[in-house]
Amino acid sequence: PRLLVLHGPNLNLLGTREPQIYGSTTLADINLALARRAEAAGVELVSFQSNHEGALIERIHAARAEGVAYIIINPAAYTHTSVALRDALAGVGIPFIEVHLSNVHAREPFRQHSYFSDLAVGVICGLGAEGYSLALEYLLARVASDTA
Ligand code: DQA
Repeated sequence: PRLLVLHGPNLNLLGTREPQIYGSTTLADINLALARRAEAAGVELVSFQSNHEGALIERIHAARAEGVAYIIINPAAYTHTSVALRDALAGVGIPFIEVHLSNVHAREPFRQHSYFSDLAVGVICGLGAEGYSLALEYLLARVASDTA
């Protein structure tokens, strides 16, 4: 794929998980909307969710071998804990956008530090599921200008 969307732990529960914070859109809805939008633009997009740090790391390693151009990642709770996931993204050198459904800066203090933000092309948080779509629009424009 040209674009890879990675979802961290507990995001498989979207739709029923604390909907007052994360909304009622399911992960399947999000992935379908992204896949349709990318397809309409003629860009291949694959989504992957895992509750396991190592599985996410190995998916990032595979992305380099596959020639993935850009990653959209919501590292979920690993945002605030995972040096290993950060190192994986730094290690493959694939540019990425960090997305959070909620505004992490308006929540508990432990959510206000990210191991990813300083490496990210950009960060979107607090815009719900639409944040992923906005990240995708940005990357579709960038892919188009890369190949122009
Ligand atoms: C999250 C915010 C994180 O703090 C939290 O652990 C999540 C989801 C978000 O999308 O708002 O699991 O990344």
